[in-house]
Amino acid sequence: MARETSLFSGRPSELVGRQVASYRIEQEIGRGGMAVVYRARDLRLDRTVALKLLAPELARNDTFRNRFSHESRVAAAIDHPHIVPVFEAGETDGVLYIAMRYVAGSDLRHLLDRQGPLALPTALRIAAQVASALDAAHEHGLVHRDVKPGNILVARGTDSDHPEHTYLTDFGLTKKSLSLTGFTTVGQFVGTLDYVAPEQISGRPVDGRCDVYGFACVVHETLTGHPPFRRDDDMALLWAHQYDEPPAISRSRPGLPTGLDDVFARALAKTPADRHDSCLSFVAALRSAATGDHGPSAAAARVAYAEAAVRVAQAEETRPKPPPHWARPVVRER
Ligand SMILES: Nc1ncnc2c1ncn2[C@@H]1O[C@H](COP(=O)(O)OP(=O)(O)OP(=O)(O)O)[C@@H](O)[C@H]1O
Ligand SMILES: [Mg+2]
Repeated sequence: MARETSLFSGRPSELVGRQVASYRIEQEIGRGGMAVVYRARDLRLDRTVALKLLAPELARNDTFRNRFSHESRVAAAIDHPHIVPVFEAGETDGVLYIAMRYVAGSDLRHLLDRQGPLALPTALRIAAQVASALDAAHEHGLVHRDVKPGNILVARGTDSDHPEHTYLTDFGLTKKSLSLTGFTTVGQFVGTLDYVAPEQISGRPVDGRCDVYGFACVVHETLTGHPPFRRDDDMALLWAHQYDEPPAISRSRPGLPTGLDDVFARALAKTPADRHDSCLSFVAALRSAATGDHGPSAAAARVAYAEAAVRVAQAEETRPKPPPHWARPVVRER
């Protein structure tokens, strides 16, 4: 136990200079709710990597552990320009680790905190890259489940036409799929609920369309500085994802084309079947709404949206009343 603790929760400087598996730790890059990420040296290939050490209790959770080994294997098999390449995933001294490409730059969370909302063309460029990564993952049968700004790494691009190059990371590494009560069984917070799809909350099966929802929340934030739903507490936020209509984005940031409203309304539909069927088609719809191009596919999208609106209205009639405060949804996926 002492060894586990020293690997994960020791002071950052304690691990610097030490060897973990076949990596020598050089510097702490950052830490999230369930992992610490270091810049490290791969001693076998003599190259710099990002080494992610996951919190020890995750290694003791069989559901997480099985998904970790399955999904890191699938993620490692996807060769895509916008997915962080995974070099190795394993376990040492009771701690799960992932070695991956070190991405020099920032992540979208830091970028938004520093710069505020991005200009529409920049947001659309970044969105298109992330969308292509998500769609590629879905084609491999992999659902990300935790699309959020912190999992989108932004590096310098190749030239002025491509000022940034983004990478999606952390496939299947979310504790949200283990518990959405806000806390895991060992009392650790699961992280932000700003981007979680209604079907994840209610414990229904998830597929790529849950990432369409999370991704739409992220794009909303890159354009306005905040996700579509903002509530005072987690229960109200979970409720809003499931039942509240998202506010029109053009009202959140004056100057945005009003055509974007319908596109977000569709991507954020409560029922997965009512959303765009891929992340790239969501971005294509954003592009045409932004440029005022209302060609045949945009017309078809409007018809589909109108149909979806009717279904939402029908569902609204049978909508249950909000649960009392104590009735917290507990979600456990197999
Ligand atoms: N491959 C990488 N190269 C460079 N930096 C990385 C890499 N992967 C993650 N990071 C950075 O490491 C930090 C911690 O990442 P981590 O995934 O642990 O936390 P998070 O995604 O911000 O939060 P959460 O715990 O909720 O997932 C982030 O600032 C991220 O930008
Ligand atoms: Mg992360």
